[in-house]
Order: sequence, then structure tokens, then C-alpha cells
Amino acid sequence: MSEEPPRRNPGLLGRPAALVPARSDAGIPENPAAERLAGLAFVAALLAGIGLLVVYVLGGQTQIEAVLLTACLGGIGFGIIVWAQALLPNAPVTEVRHPLGSEESAADPGDALAAPAITRRTMLVRLMLGAFAGLAAALAVPVFSLGPAPGRELFVTPWRKGLRLVDETNIPVLGAQIPVGGLLTVFPEGYPGSADGQTLLINVGPGRLQLAPDRASWAPNGFVAYSKVCTHAGCPVGLYRATLESLICPCHQSTFDVLRGAVPTGGPAVRPLPQLPITLQPDGTFAALGDFPEPVGPSFWNVHSGG
Ligand code: FES
Repeated sequence: MSEEPPRRNPGLLGRPAALVPARSDAGIPENPAAERLAGLAFVAALLAGIGLLVVYVLGGQTQIEAVLLTACLGGIGFGIIVWAQALLPNAPVTEVRHPLGSEESAADPGDALAAPAITRRTMLVRLMLGAFAGLAAALAVPVFSLGPAPGRELFVTPWRKGLRLVDETNIPVLGAQIPVGGLLTVFPEGYPGSADGQTLLINVGPGRLQLAPDRASWAPNGFVAYSKVCTHAGCPVGLYRATLESLICPCHQSTFDVLRGAVPTGGPAVRPLPQLPITLQPDGTFAALGDFPEPVGPSFWNVHSGG
């Protein structure tokens, strides 16, 4: 029997034509060298993915993790390219039409019971699946870094009904301390310095506020309280222009109309600063009637605008 002459094909990875051995009966190129190369790439990807997980569990090192992730993705990519270039049939295939009707099978019945041998291609497929398992291990790293779920944290602040408005030293604030046109940063009693509870208490004078009817009673004697956390990106809204009755955020110059419920009148913020419901007590201090009715700070998932 004469030996089939070697054929030329486009070559591995687009390099100039290389001589390859004869094809199998199914037209699949036989190329043990390419199979070994692809297999090694998949093994490298698997080891890199596992290595990345180990480095992360041991405390993490950003540069090493980056190299391992590159090796994992690169190994998979390289292996797939080698497979596609050198191991997949790249010639037109015509399927032979089989004769119709049943035939006596000449096969040995024992063959069907024999355990299938593991071919190099089977091994290559398993190695590729292993490489993807390594990649899955690598992708698990950012999931572990997400931290605990915030739950309801973003929707509530320390403000509760009955908590007095205090300064940064936890001393209750008196109305007499703030002249008309003045303001003070206040916190919930017991939570001085609270980041999400920080609030601006402003005295605009009686009869000047134009609040929604259901919120007018939240501002006794012209004292109104708004969250100090900007609804754009969370900076403290610390500037007050008394002549224009507007609050200004120093970060990106959002302005809020104090008389009309702190609606934004300029800049990138789209939500009003939430108003804290307060009451003036007989001893001249203020107390909250509850928490802010809306989440404070920047918008997130289902909190997009003031609408
Ligand atoms: S954070 Fe206030 S305007 Fe951007």
C-alpha cells in the first residue's frame, strides 16, 4: 500500500505553509505537535486560574493577580487559536450518501460493549474544559470582593422620631442660636458627626417658605432642615447664599432653592435635598418627627430622580 504524500496547508498560526501528516478518515488533520501545544496552553490557563484564586485567598497582590489573569485568558485564547488553525478540518467536505435499507451488521457485538478509548482529541476537550474551570475560578475573585450586601442601609439614616437636633459635640441646638438668614449643621442626638445624618438647619424667617402643603408643618417658625449630602455625588452642601436663599454644593456647583423644598435650580444634581421633618419644642430645642422621607445622597438603582 502506497503512502499518501504529505500535503501543504496554510500552516499553524498563519505562518508560512508547513508540512502536515495525512488526515484521518473524518478529514480531521492529524497534528500531534499542535495538539500538545493546545493542551499545554489549556493546562497553563487552568494553573493560572487556580493560582490567581490561591494568591487572592493568601491576601492578594495586584500585580501577580494581573499576570495570572493575563496568563489564564491568554492560555485559553492561544489554545483555541491553535485548535482552530491546525486541528479543525479546513477543506470542503462532502458527505457520502449511504444506501437505504437495513444491513446485517458485520461488527463484532463485543466491540459495542468495549469501553471507548480516550483519544487525544477527547483529552484535548477535557483540558479545554479544565482551562475554562480555571477561568471561572479567576472570575470568582471579584465576586468575593463585593463585600456584604447593603440591605436597607441606603434607605435609612440614624434620624428617628423624638431625637433632638444637636451640634457636632452632641449638645442640643436652640432656635435662638440661629438668626434669620443663618444656618447650622446639625446631627441626630447621639450620632454627632454622622455622615448620612448630617443636616442643615436654616432660619429663613416666618412666612417665607413655599413648601408642599404636606411638608409645611415640618418647618416651624421658618426653620427648615435639609440633608447636607448632595444628591449629585454626595459632597457636603456647605455654602449658603442668604441673599438668594440658595444652597450651593462646592464640588460641581449644584444649587438648591431653600424656599421651595431645596429643588435643584442649577448644576448636575436632579433630586431635591431631602427635607427632615422637625418640630420646635417648648424648651427652644428641635426634635425630629421621623427619618428623611427619601434616601439621602446620590441616586442609585431605583432612586433616579426627584419625580
Ligand atoms: S456632588 Fe454636589 S454637585 Fe456634584
